[in-house]
Amino acid sequence: MSGRTIGLAIAGAFAAIIVAALGTVFLVFPRVSPAPDIKVELTPERVARGNYLFNNALACVGCHTPELEPHRFSGIPDNTRIAAGRYMGGPEKGLPAEMNVPNLTPTALGTWSDGEIYRAITAGVDRDGRAMFAFMPYVFYSRLDPEDVTALVAYLRSLPPQPVTLPPLDAPLPIKIAMRFVAADAKPQKRPDASDEVALGHYLAYASACFECHTLRNARGEPVGVPFAGGNVFGLAAGGLARSANITPDKQAGIGAWTRADFIARFRARNEAELSKLMPVAGEMDTEMPWTAYAGMTDADLGAIYAYLQTVPADGSEIVTYEAPQ
Ligand code: HEC
Ligand code: HEC
Repeated sequence: MSGRTIGLAIAGAFAAIIVAALGTVFLVFPRVSPAPDIKVELTPERVARGNYLFNNALACVGCHTPELEPHRFSGIPDNTRIAAGRYMGGPEKGLPAEMNVPNLTPTALGTWSDGEIYRAITAGVDRDGRAMFAFMPYVFYSRLDPEDVTALVAYLRSLPPQPVTLPPLDAPLPIKIAMRFVAADAKPQKRPDASDEVALGHYLAYASACFECHTLRNARGEPVGVPFAGGNVFGLAAGGLARSANITPDKQAGIGAWTRADFIARFRARNEAELSKLMPVAGEMDTEMPWTAYAGMTDADLGAIYAYLQTVPADGSEIVTYEAPQ
């Protein structure tokens, strides 16, 4: 064999190994169990709880509902089209794909079983077992109390149908492959009782995406920063950028000097009625934080998040949360 033939043979062997490895990846992953065999009864309490989680505490609405014209301090959802799906932008906003967030009303999910919807929210695979892009925060929803997930399923089932206007999200191949390792069976926990504020706050700070947005992530979306010390960048409708704030209890750089009442008041002030008066103005502070959704959270839940955040390690990183367009 000449050197060149040997080279080709080695390259061929490598290619075969890679094909075998990829084949294994496709056969074995995502490693997710069949959808649970459940039937969710639509009781009024359950639907109301699901409504609260979807539109307020877990802010699903921010991604899955079209916005009225862009507003300052987060979008105002079009309440006549809850869960109809939404285009969130593409590579021009620093996103790795054209972000078509799917319709979740009966028009789209009517043929799914309750268990398939439950599994999508908590394990990150669709009806056919395809791993979903973890931009949908299922990694965090995997820890939800089964009662909260069931409430979300009941709420989605109760919604009026809405026409599907967007094609499905088509993530680039490297993301599709990577997601096969991310989608995984749920690891449910019990929602702590409101009497244990710090534990309930911990549950919510992860489920409600505070940790996700407020902890610096690398290009692959993995949290790499000090928890809750901020620094993630978001492109804004009127140009410029927002950075997630440091919400650790550092007295200067974080929210250590805020009282519980200050904290709750900041959320209440950014409700839909107030924000719908404000349009984005080039050069003036704006944000991607879904304040309007969280503004409807109960005092008990916001207070619990505050109590928990006061217990995480303080970090002195000063974050500039808004930069005007150049
Ligand atoms: C940060 C944006 C974001 C948030 C917040 C979010 N989702 Fe999603 N969701 C997505 C995206 C994007 C997809 C599609 C992922 C894919 O297909 O790869 C998706 C997919 C889904 C699906 C599967 C639908 C289908 O047709 O495949 C369900 C069900 C769902 N989300 C429910 C929820 C619920 C319930 C919440 C709140 C607890 C929520 N989502 C919060 C972005 C989000
Ligand atoms: C989509 C990303 C995103 C999510 C989710 C998010 N935040 Fe934020 N947050 C930001 C950004 C960006 C800022 C800076 C601009 C501003 O004040 O809105 C911010 C600012 C804040 C501030 C103001 C800090 C200051 O010094 O003025 C607080 C408090 C806060 N977030 C708490 C939370 C809590 C609690 C949660 C979860 C319930 C949460 N955030 C979820 C992006 C997010």
